[in-house]
Amino acid sequence: MPLTLQQLLMTARQQLAQVLPPGEARSEAQLLLMHVLAINRAWLIAHGSDEVTAQHAQVFNQLVQRRLQGEPVAYMLGYREFFGLRLKVTPDTLIPRPDTETLVEAALQKISGAMRVLDLGTGTGAIALAMAQHAPQAQVTAVDASVKALAVARENAQSLQLGSVRCVHSDWFEALAGQTFDLIVSNPPYIEDSDPHLAQGDLRFEPYSALASGADGLQDIDRIIASAPTYLHTKGWLMLEHGYNQAEAVQQRLAMHGFQAVETRQDLGGNPRVTLGQWDGSKPV
Ligand SMILES: C[S@@+](CC[C@H](N)C(=O)[O-])C[C@H]1O[C@@H](n2cnc3c(N)ncnc32)[C@H](O)[C@@H]1O
Repeated sequence: MPLTLQQLLMTARQQLAQVLPPGEARSEAQLLLMHVLAINRAWLIAHGSDEVTAQHAQVFNQLVQRRLQGEPVAYMLGYREFFGLRLKVTPDTLIPRPDTETLVEAALQKISGAMRVLDLGTGTGAIALAMAQHAPQAQVTAVDASVKALAVARENAQSLQLGSVRCVHSDWFEALAGQTFDLIVSNPPYIEDSDPHLAQGDLRFEPYSALASGADGLQDIDRIIASAPTYLHTKGWLMLEHGYNQAEAVQQRLAMHGFQAVETRQDLGGNPRVTLGQWDGSKPV
């Protein structure tokens, strides 16, 4: 006997609750069913007692099984919402995290007028596109070392009609010789190579090059901080997202390289997550 949408959802919720917190199990089951039926949440709620076709039930159950194996729901759906933007994501890109909205908010507080802004390691373009959307006069450049990720960032820029964002293939600052910026932001890789989390959960499916950064997780942050003064205007800002336990290390490094007004902001969960400093214009050390 055919199941109703509500019954199908309930079974999936119970299965997903074995690997996810109950709230996430519920919302992910709904997202997957909305995806399979190409419907929105309001339709799903209003039609809970409709019967589901055998074909839709089969496709949905296959997605639930993939999720139970750990595949992130964003890769199955092909998109993720970030700062109010629907961004295409693929296994070549990191899945943007809500924590990174802290970095965007800090950046938007500093941006005014036609400032030149750089996003290092743009992935889907999440940070660069959110800044461009909310600070339309800013001149935003987005850089990534991954050609495939950069192609996704370009596609997102086009589909969101934010084509003014300049996407550049570069190993951090390498392709930006002679260019200077008022604000440089980055959510770089910052996980220790040996961190067991890399082999768990969603991280298993995301590009290793977007996550891991040497034995102490600070290899890329070190490279960015050391080079940033060459690419910053006097009084320009550098803002870095980092691990919850790296704030002190990042603060010390910024101070050591001559940055002033160094401070750390907390993410939505209250963890120290974004550290920023202002370049005073002295000769780079
Ligand atoms: C943690 S992900 C952040 C992605 C995106 N900014 C976000 O917040 O969702 C780090 C990004 O840095 C890029 N990356 C890693 N090493 C790089 C390098 N040497 N130069 C430029 N980009 C790099 C990765 O390809 C990846 O897209």
